[in-house]
Amino acid sequence: MSLILLNETQQEIRRLARDYAQRELVPMAAERDREARFDRSMVQQMAELGFFGMLIPEQYDGLGLDAQSYLLALEEIAVGDSSAAVLLSVHNSLPTQMILNFGNEEQRTRFLPPMARGELLGAFCLSEPEAGSDAGSLATQAVREGDEWVLNGTKAWVSHGNEAGVLLCMARTDAPGARKGSKGISTFILTPDLPGFHLTKKENKLGLRASPTLQIVLDNCRVPADRLVGEEGRGLTYALGSLDHGRLGIASQAIGIARAALEASARYAGERKQFGKSIGEFQAIQFKLADMATRITAARTLLHTAAAAKERGEKVTRYSSMAKLFATETAMWVTTQAVQIFGGYGYVTDYPVERYMRDAKVTEIYEGTSEIQRIVIARETLAAAIA
Ligand code: CAA
Repeated sequence: MSLILLNETQQEIRRLARDYAQRELVPMAAERDREARFDRSMVQQMAELGFFGMLIPEQYDGLGLDAQSYLLALEEIAVGDSSAAVLLSVHNSLPTQMILNFGNEEQRTRFLPPMARGELLGAFCLSEPEAGSDAGSLATQAVREGDEWVLNGTKAWVSHGNEAGVLLCMARTDAPGARKGSKGISTFILTPDLPGFHLTKKENKLGLRASPTLQIVLDNCRVPADRLVGEEGRGLTYALGSLDHGRLGIASQAIGIARAALEASARYAGERKQFGKSIGEFQAIQFKLADMATRITAARTLLHTAAAAKERGEKVTRYSSMAKLFATETAMWVTTQAVQIFGGYGYVTDYPVERYMRDAKVTEIYEGTSEIQRIVIARETLAAAIA
């Protein structure tokens, strides 16, 4: 089923995630989507399996898995319900990794164990209404007052922001009259109990409807000074560096969505009869299935090549963007083909492929649009050519 070579641990975690996703996620995924309902019992189940601590070392109660095991599990979860996959991807790749890699020991011991156990969900607050692709133009301002930072601004597109207990937030710490560009941004650990922290708007989305997306207003939000992560002024670098890892997770999610669409299409092609035989006997459908399977396998191979490079400690910026770009565009293309194979039945909610198509779209947008991935790949390619 897979071209990538897996060790026993990787096969075992993939099996565990697949069994769970097929048994618990698949049956209610359509209902959760229809009702735009985030399911806390699902969080509890995934917590019991250790899925919120997949990349957190054992000393902080995590599973301490390698990147490939994590990405394999994520793909299986996305096959079952891609809304669950984005929750795991954001939590495991961004806030927990930022605290692990850039936080101090006090922050790690305080926040990582409950995050690994799924008691505290993590979210990531980089974007703002006027700062999306141009992340460096964010305007949320943090001003130091004694033992606190006072934050003012609006954060947008925060995945499961209303369910999170820990939110890693980027804000400006340079003075309005003396801006320092990308070096004027810092990272803070927010918790929803802080005064001045307000959830303001839950987005009504085309897809991933069981994953809530929030706008958060920080209105004189008072943050204790010990919540600053790492060095003041390094926040954008921390965020963009963490997105190198986050984008691998989104690539995996996209591959899972595409695989779900391919599997549904192959089943349907065997069942649906037209002109006296199953549509899977027509070359028109066979060629579609062949192209879908080829692109998915290519996307997975690229992703796991990037993940293996990450495990070796190499810089993965370029390959992470390539994997995200290729996997998410594959997901959009494959799910569109799936709807075509289903014909009219693909366009209605009796079958899951219209949901897969809606879910696939956002993977080309969040954690950096396809256009941003191309910018990153081009920059890194030009730099490598010059070096
Ligand atoms: N790793 C580490 N550091 C990096 C980096 C990386 N991959 N990329 C850039 N940096 C550093 C740079 O070295 C630079 O540091 P210095 O100031 O010390 O030199 C700093 O970060 C700024 O980098 P650039 O000068 O390259 O920044 P830029 O303004 O030219 O923008 C960009 C670069 C690629 C366009 C970037 O802004 C970007 O990726 N934008 C998209 C943002 C994004 O993905 N947002 C999604 C938010 S999360 C989300 O979707 C919601 C959710 O909950 C899922």
